[in-house]
Amino acid sequence: MEINLATKKLDNVKTDAVFFLMFEDNKKLEGELEKIDKALNGGVSDLIKLQKYKAEEGKFLIVPTLGKIKANYVAIVGLGKEKKFENDILRRVASYIIRKSKELKLSDIIIDTNLQQFENYDEVVQAITEGLILGDYSFDKYFSKKDEHKVKEVQINIPKNQDKDRLNEFVRIGKILAEAQNFTRDLVNEPANVINTIQFAEIAEKLAKEYGFEIKIYDEEEIEKMGMGAYLAVAKGSDNPPRFIHLTYRPKNSQGEVAIVGKGLMFDSGGLNIKTGDFMRWMKSDKSGACAVLGIFKAIGELKPDITVHGIVAAAENMPSGKAYRPDDILRARNGVTIEVGNTDAEGRLTLADALSYASELKPDAIIDMATLTGACVVALGEFTAGVMGNNQKFINEILKTSEETGEWMWQLPFNDKLREQIKAPHADVYNVGTTRYGGAITAGLFLEKFVDPKIPWVHIDIAGPSHHTSGWYYHPKGATGIPVRTITWYLLKRSKFFDKIGK
Ligand code: BES
Ligand code: ZN
Ligand code: ZN
Repeated sequence: MEINLATKKLDNVKTDAVFFLMFEDNKKLEGELEKIDKALNGGVSDLIKLQKYKAEEGKFLIVPTLGKIKANYVAIVGLGKEKKFENDILRRVASYIIRKSKELKLSDIIIDTNLQQFENYDEVVQAITEGLILGDYSFDKYFSKKDEHKVKEVQINIPKNQDKDRLNEFVRIGKILAEAQNFTRDLVNEPANVINTIQFAEIAEKLAKEYGFEIKIYDEEEIEKMGMGAYLAVAKGSDNPPRFIHLTYRPKNSQGEVAIVGKGLMFDSGGLNIKTGDFMRWMKSDKSGACAVLGIFKAIGELKPDITVHGIVAAAENMPSGKAYRPDDILRARNGVTIEVGNTDAEGRLTLADALSYASELKPDAIIDMATLTGACVVALGEFTAGVMGNNQKFINEILKTSEETGEWMWQLPFNDKLREQIKAPHADVYNVGTTRYGGAITAGLFLEKFVDPKIPWVHIDIAGPSHHTSGWYYHPKGATGIPVRTITWYLLKRSKFFDKIGK
């Protein structure tokens, strides 16, 4: 799908469809209707009144193509109340438009933004671009019969007074971000019989070659030599050996250094504390954090911000077998902290323990980890919101602020000393489960805290809820969502002063 900007008068344009975006705002509606009436040669205001159409978010009103517009299909698409407007509504609405166009087998369409004034057109064209690409996505490679219809070109019609060259740059950024997110979705959606630890490492290697990243992949023997006893224990039950992956993006004019760490369980059966059927389904998505690392690297490989980024994944598979680690086992992590195993299904934090110790040794300016860590986080916040924790409130605030800009919902969960007491183990420094199940997302975060150098600002993002969804929502189809690829990439861009060059 091609996405282009246009500044067209719609009178004599030839296209399959025109979608007019419009706010729900009764006072202004009259004036806006007049404009549509003019564009279509009248009749629309009566229709709208007749249909009691209010332009609520995502609501379509098909209008007759009476006027000079040579399209077969013309519709108004609601943006909801102007007062409540946020850019994410444009992503959602753009995704509904692309899905409708596919359903109608349209090939060239126009999205018109001229019915009202937006505050910031950089954000408008970027959000529409992202929504189109994210909404167009489906994981259909395994269907023998595919829904082949693809929309060929989308033109986003913007006011004439806008700087088209500048806005084209934001269309480009939107494309890269959304395509990186789709890349992550593709990886997460692949089942564990297609992407195992070794294949995951190969994909990382391919990405490194393509974009010129440094990459080091450690095998089981090397992982053992590195003293990663917690990670190694998790991997032991599987016939697929662990692979520890360290990617580095190192630009010439680096303005700083950030490490991003992703939980990389290719599959989580629970191990000896095996999950029951319903809970084991979708556990191919326990590699979402790791796949987000690769998606973020794809995006920065394209956008080339002036900041050094380390991408770290301790890839493993959690399986029960005669070689599997057990409850009561006592492990030693790379930083020397001993861990008593309470439950082999709390495996992600064990792999992250060693990954975070390793990341800390690189002495970056900041560490971000992304992990499908706890069901408790989903209970706390629901399926659509990620939990954010960490050791530095300013850093947490920056990530939360960024998530508001990207529409990837995040909310902070608070650390406290009483919960810290609940991960004390009977016979080792720390337990891998809390003594009660209450606050399970937070006790998991507090466990991770033991493996991060306290001098380094660190944020932990629990994406167990929003990383995948059985039916999908907004611009997310069923399956993997690719969250939080856009938030972290956007954060890295801002931190690297990427927008100084564009003058944003
Ligand atoms: N991978 C799961 C967490 C998860 C749950 C991700 C639901 C996505 C959806 C994690 O490894 C796990 O099993 N956590 C346990 C921890 C418990 C044993 C303390 C959980 O949440 O039940
Ligand atoms: Zn688990
Ligand atoms: Zn897990």
